[in-house]
Amino acid sequence: MTADKLRLGVNIDHVATIRNARGGDNPDPVRAAIMAEAAGADGITAHLREDRRHIVDADIDGLMAALTVPLNFEMAATDEMQAIALRHKPHAVCLVPEKREERTTEGGLDVAGNDTALAAYIAPLRDMGARVSMFIAADRVQVDACLRIGAPVIELHAGAYADAWAEGRWDDRDVELAKITHMTAYAHDLGLEVHVGHGLTYDCVGPVAALPQVAELNIGHFIIGEAIFQGLGPAIVQMRRCMDEARA
Ligand code: PXP
Repeated sequence: MTADKLRLGVNIDHVATIRNARGGDNPDPVRAAIMAEAAGADGITAHLREDRRHIVDADIDGLMAALTVPLNFEMAATDEMQAIALRHKPHAVCLVPEKREERTTEGGLDVAGNDTALAAYIAPLRDMGARVSMFIAADRVQVDACLRIGAPVIELHAGAYADAWAEGRWDDRDVELAKITHMTAYAHDLGLEVHVGHGLTYDCVGPVAALPQVAELNIGHFIIGEAIFQGLGPAIVQMRRCMDEARA
């Protein structure tokens, strides 16, 4: 069975990274989100990190006020972030592992090793009406754990696949794509909604977008980088085209 239209969530964290390099207000991630929406983004993703290295609290206020498409609020499973999510009531909450020393989100959440605590943690977020997703490796043990704790959505970490592609390690790329392919079908058969994200580019998005059960891709760093050369709207339109051509 095929998911409905493949959605594109645009992650605007790195607009805030550029702003924060200098301080001040420019460039404004909320303005980028509004432009992304106009260019065809089906949702906006923003990760409020504990260290506020890119998105800050005021950005979440601004996004909630300005967006007409859903906000996918990425966060670590901490009490502070749960309180912020409950206050803002975003459409979706994506739980990600977070380490202060990492440059970007490395690896997936260990849902299997923390299932009891995570089940209790997501209950109020679900009760509040958020679509809760878990950012996990393409690993059956983790998928099973997501089902067990009652998370309706998983997002599979595409980082290893994208890195292998970027570095020309074609055998590794094929292995990683096979993992994503199998776990997408497996999770979908269990009734979970499947998203994929991290590291996706025009080059490597196609094989993932082609998987019929994938409902959403979340893409940030590459699009924001391309925006320097093409402009944000055209970069989103081109990513959308890559996805649609692969899906067709
Ligand atoms: N999905 C999740 C859960 C993420 O944490 C991120 C950012 O790390 C992305 C998607 C987007 O990844 P990228 O910026 O590499 O496209």
